Amino acid sequence: MQVVGRERELGRLGAALERAAAGRLSRVVVTGATGMGISTLLSELERRLVGEPGVIVARGAAVEPRSGHPYAALSAALEGPISSLPDSRLPEVLGPAADEIALLLPDMAARIRLACPMDVPMQSAPDQRRGRLVEGVLGVLGRLASGGAALLALDDLHWADPGTRAFVEFMLGLDVALPVCLVVSYHHDELDRRHPFGPVAAALAEHPSVERIELEPFRPDELLRFIEVASGERPTAGLFAAIVERSGGNPLVADQLLAARRLVPGARLSDTFDELIESRLGLLGNAAARWVRVLAAVRRPIESQSLVGMRLPDGTLTERGLPEAVECGLATQDAGRVRIAQERYAETIESLLDPIGRQAIHAAIAGRLPGPPAEQTWHWERALRLDRARDGHVAAGVAAEALDPGGTALEHYLRALELDTLERRVEHATDWRALVADRHWAAVGAAVLAGVLLWRVLRE
Ligand SMILES: Nc1ncnc2c1ncn2[C@@H]1O[C@H](COP(=O)(O)OP(=O)(O)OP(=O)(O)O)[C@@H](O)[C@H]1O
Ligand SMILES: [Mg+2]
Repeated sequence: MQVVGRERELGRLGAALERAAAGRLSRVVVTGATGMGISTLLSELERRLVGEPGVIVARGAAVEPRSGHPYAALSAALEGPISSLPDSRLPEVLGPAADEIALLLPDMAARIRLACPMDVPMQSAPDQRRGRLVEGVLGVLGRLASGGAALLALDDLHWADPGTRAFVEFMLGLDVALPVCLVVSYHHDELDRRHPFGPVAAALAEHPSVERIELEPFRPDELLRFIEVASGERPTAGLFAAIVERSGGNPLVADQLLAARRLVPGARLSDTFDELIESRLGLLGNAAARWVRVLAAVRRPIESQSLVGMRLPDGTLTERGLPEAVECGLATQDAGRVRIAQERYAETIESLLDPIGRQAIHAAIAGRLPGPPAEQTWHWERALRLDRARDGHVAAGVAAEALDPGGTALEHYLRALELDTLERRVEHATDWRALVADRHWAAVGAAVLAGVLLWRVLRE
């Protein structure tokens, strides 16, 4: 879809990139409320940079199910530019960081190890590992830029894992000549007082080296343009006023109102966001609705083939329903990967499910995902399979130690302990319920006995 407005913000991002091209590490944070258009802004920047000589783009997003996987957002960003390198360039670009990059990109590890033979396996003390990795990543970005600039864009960092959070904090204090422009983003309405990203957000807000861009709601003229682009016609004054009032200039809310109006017979603009999503979901056939519910639970782009055949309580996921799920706009498909169109939709769709149905979907996903143990574990927790989640956290902690022996591994081990305690309590509670049940029968027996005695006394 055509991007509306945001020229000033794109100009500031372009200027930061120019500073990087001149050899000065630049840092920008983009914030805004959910749906204000941060990802759209980054996509537009990326689109404008295509074919720009000397600029490479490494862009990744943090996603909630991988918030326990070390450096998940950073790995996602590096995957594109590194996997597109021919084998012959890998030794030159990865250089001494080949070992670290192989750990960050396990799907490419075999290729990297073949192209960049390492005589002695790298050994470093746990406390040095993070430093080596950060240095390695920056070295790779510098070599990738080779005379130009590298844009490292990390989106949705409110879901960042501890490693990615530490990476961003480390970048703030860095004072080196590097042709890198770091752009990070998060939604401030996702952060409560105790959110783990809070301290990083505070550092980003205060650090003198960081340029801040706050995405504001659309102005009325921008909203009007947005409606024209989205609906292909000029709105009536009444419709425009209603969308201004309901959306407050938030493009996601405005988009949702227009989609519901277009697709749902009898939709009212006064309906809540969740009611409109529920109405859109209600229009779908079973096969398509099943896809939308599963993608809402998956919460990240995924190869559709890896989900086909998944068994759910209400049937099997078949390829048949996918086109309808995409057609209705609740899911999107790009290069074989599918995802729920907006995270905000995912939250609503999941909240519409009954707990048993929601748990069954997460259990089915956890049993099928080939990904890292941290992600499977995230789904086992949502499936309320405490035993599997506890074991998963231990496995995820062990896996995390290879990359980030600090925060990530520790978080998994602590959670495993918490779940272990919780599981014992649940077992205990079950015994307690059995006891109550026994007492219940004892109480009934006692009451009957007392009744018989009373009847006898009264009769005499
Ligand atoms: N400048 C824009 N021009 C046109 N459409 C936009 C613009 N900004 C946002 N949108 C539309 O609004 C919706 C939300 O945008 P986007 O996904 O970029 O928001 P976000 O801030 O990244 O929030 P989230 O991460 O929760 O999705 C999308 O449908 C997008 O197409
Ligand atoms: Mg986004």
